[in-house]
Amino acid sequence: MKRRRFLEYFTAASAMSVISLNRLNAEIYTGIDDLNYQYPQDSPDGKYWDALRKHFLFEDDYIMMNNGTLGPMPEPVYNELIKYFKMQVTNPYDCYNYFPSLKNEVHQKLADFIGASRDEVAINRNTTEGMNIIAGGTNLEEGDEVLISSLEHPGGYYPWKMREKRSGIKVIEVPLNSPPKNKEEIINSFRERINDKTKVISVSHTVYINGLIFPLKELSEMAHKNDILVAADSAHGFGMLNLNMHDLGIDLWASSPYKWSGAPTGCGILFVSKKAQDRIWPVIASSGWDNMDSASRFETLGQRADPLVFALKEAMNFQNRIGRDRIERRIKSLALYLKEGLSEIDGVRLHTSMDTEISAGLTAFSLKGVEPGHIVNYLLERYNLVVRTIGRDRDNTRGVRVSTNIFVSKEHVDMVIEGVKHLASG
Ligand SMILES: Cc1ncc(COP(=O)(O)O)c(C=O)c1O
Repeated sequence: MKRRRFLEYFTAASAMSVISLNRLNAEIYTGIDDLNYQYPQDSPDGKYWDALRKHFLFEDDYIMMNNGTLGPMPEPVYNELIKYFKMQVTNPYDCYNYFPSLKNEVHQKLADFIGASRDEVAINRNTTEGMNIIAGGTNLEEGDEVLISSLEHPGGYYPWKMREKRSGIKVIEVPLNSPPKNKEEIINSFRERINDKTKVISVSHTVYINGLIFPLKELSEMAHKNDILVAADSAHGFGMLNLNMHDLGIDLWASSPYKWSGAPTGCGILFVSKKAQDRIWPVIASSGWDNMDSASRFETLGQRADPLVFALKEAMNFQNRIGRDRIERRIKSLALYLKEGLSEIDGVRLHTSMDTEISAGLTAFSLKGVEPGHIVNYLLERYNLVVRTIGRDRDNTRGVRVSTNIFVSKEHVDMVIEGVKHLASG
């Protein structure tokens, strides 16, 4: 979106009535329906995605190829956010009555969106909170062992390290390659370290350092044979992958929908399977903490910014309108195109697998003899393209990470390849 139109949009939407905001969203969705009709399959010329990109609220002076921390928001989500904040501010009394039932609808939509049951989903603030509930609340005794991977994010690592210090459990890191050869290599690394004391395996679903998509289904099958709970930090998963919790067979799963789906920051998701619910306690208690029939006991937190939750609903509507399979396919095909281009450059080492069963929208790489920070700065200065440095020396993962969300075009990917080629040629 051009800067001028971007500012106009913000000003206009903020001043609109609830009815006008509803109308605006209806128009956007009619436009997307038309596009879907025109392009039932992916458009090879990229026109489908070019048209969709216009609905994302960021100044297109920047090419956003980092979906870490948080990502851009589509217009309908912003419109809903404004709408519900307005309602809350102008009529708090009606909100007492209206918001709880609306929140219930969001929970059901969320459950459908991730292939779970209504009573298995909780809405909290972010992945870090979800992982703290998982690590802090799971029934464990001194001497019990928890396996984690060597590639965990601090938000999924420190909750277990704190529990280790507090309760005398043992947290064991399982080393993983970047990239791993295949699913079997990953599962075998964990299988080899299981013993009678192993009670939990906790891994990243979407590994932030090297873009690995963890084979959770296979891991869950292997772990459940040994009565081990499986927990996953899927900070990037919501909005990047077409998810089904029951199909993955996972027990515990946390995500931050504002990275890939355009939901507002401050809105997170925790899935706790029916089977796992009597093995985990809430870490914050208020009325409802002892509702043993539902994961709602993991979200008691007094008053919250409910408009964030309603905007999450719209982020799901936006994705559903486009099509979840279509989104995952696009994200993966852009990443594959990027990896193929990078792999032809002398000196490039890919840290992410080419296999789209264990990789998706995050691609990490390094270039021999060139500092990752230099690559990031060059791409920003030359193309206004935003990517980030990632990783560390100790496991040879230091490099650059690129995200290929649906508002990225093939031309943007070409710029990354061209820029890296230029730096590789000295
Ligand atoms: C794998 C992983 N886990 C956890 C987090 C923390 O996310 P949040 O700050 O949304 O809790 C991140 C952040 O990017 C991440 O990449």
